[in-house]
Amino acid sequence: MARILMVASEGLPFIKSGGLADVVGSLPQELVNKGHEVRVVMPMYLKIAQKFHEEMQLEAQYSVSISYREVPVNVWSTMRKNVKFYFIEHQGYFERDGLYGYVDDGERFAYFQKAVLELLNQLNYFPEIIHCHDWHTGMLPAMCKEGHSFDERYRNIRFVYTIHNLAFQGNFGPEMLDSCLGLDYRIFDNGNVRYDGGISFMKSGILYADKVTTVSPTYAKEILTPQYGEHMEMVLNMRKYDLWGITNGIDIEMWNPMTDPDVPYHYNKVNVKKEKKENKMALQKELGLKVDPDVMLVGVVSRLTWQKGFYLMMEKLSEICGMPIQLAVLGSGESSIEDKMRQLEDGNKGKIAFYRGYNDSLAHRIYAASDLFLMPSLFEPCGISQLISMRYGTLPLVRETGGLGDTVTPYNEFDKTGNGFSFANYNSDEMIQVMHNAIDVYYNRPEDWKILVRNAMNTDVSWEKSAETYCQLYAQLHP
Ligand code: GLC
Repeated sequence: MARILMVASEGLPFIKSGGLADVVGSLPQELVNKGHEVRVVMPMYLKIAQKFHEEMQLEAQYSVSISYREVPVNVWSTMRKNVKFYFIEHQGYFERDGLYGYVDDGERFAYFQKAVLELLNQLNYFPEIIHCHDWHTGMLPAMCKEGHSFDERYRNIRFVYTIHNLAFQGNFGPEMLDSCLGLDYRIFDNGNVRYDGGISFMKSGILYADKVTTVSPTYAKEILTPQYGEHMEMVLNMRKYDLWGITNGIDIEMWNPMTDPDVPYHYNKVNVKKEKKENKMALQKELGLKVDPDVMLVGVVSRLTWQKGFYLMMEKLSEICGMPIQLAVLGSGESSIEDKMRQLEDGNKGKIAFYRGYNDSLAHRIYAASDLFLMPSLFEPCGISQLISMRYGTLPLVRETGGLGDTVTPYNEFDKTGNGFSFANYNSDEMIQVMHNAIDVYYNRPEDWKILVRNAMNTDVSWEKSAETYCQLYAQLHP
């Protein structure tokens, strides 16, 4: 049993921009169920303040020094399923329309991390383990070990650093070390935090944490290579004996087609075929697609970025349009991809629907109504959507990379095994070939399709096994 503080830049049900929020919103509860005491801390973004402020209590008020001035910190809290969530409030830094992508991101998250470290002192709450997630929290181990080593309460803390996405590294100019982070240039000069002439929050997290994890065993291996290492592979190789790959799970209570309040027709393994058709017709009406319960509906719920493999789809748009399928796409991201999707929808009314933006409720209905879920990622640390799809009896079609390869077993027509479809190389011809194969099974071998759907719904996508692995990891640090 350990006291664990998770530090992250987003988490459900409060705020989400990507899969990180799903993990931060569900792993803590699982660890509590296993006997740990878990708290979470994140910034108070505008959307959180607007929606949740009423239920929060003020926990602490203090200040931290940023750019040689004292900046105030208010910390608020609320409970969710036996987990205490803290929110670091600063209107100027966090109460903006978006979460990231601002010129002062380095300063904002330096402030956040400083405020978190001082919060421990303010509350006299010293966890045994601080579990940091992604670059926004990558400086915490260094700040603690270099800046607070004289203080036994801080010195005893052990750090886990989890990489959800190596492509975002938090690399900034070196001057930030002194002005915002309050750290000595010595750790720039000796190379500990230096990266490409500046400093890197990601690198620092990898080097200073006691254990480093990422979100699937395959991605843990891939990032040691130049192909997937995002120029961090040398640093990661230095820590490879402390690097664990632990596959994400999902909250199977929230993601349950039998009870999901956003889904009109509930189902389980027994009535999935019939009720999925009802859900399909309802969604076709909702999105302006031609109502046809028998057509194969392909769903996509995703950030529209290069990472997710949209360039493969762009290469084959005319072929995809010619397939006997309908396509429902939900997401937002790079404007070139959004524009293409919009054009595609305009040119294929009734066959292709594109909803630009983030709509959680609609996402649930797309998972429930679709037959196939398309996720041809260029790289994928874990991927959450393929797990949700399987839980909803929607077969994922993925590229075998990172967590996608670890969680999706391709259809084998001889022994009728598999819970989806997959292809190996980042190549649009391979993707199209596998799509044709999936379409063929759907229309011409419905018995096989049925078996695959059952296999998918029988796949264990819960946190159970992975939460146990995190417990083993924590136990190594806090025996
Ligand atoms: C990031 C990764 C995704 C992973 C998620 C949660 O969004 O891109 O693969 O599932 O983090 O760990």
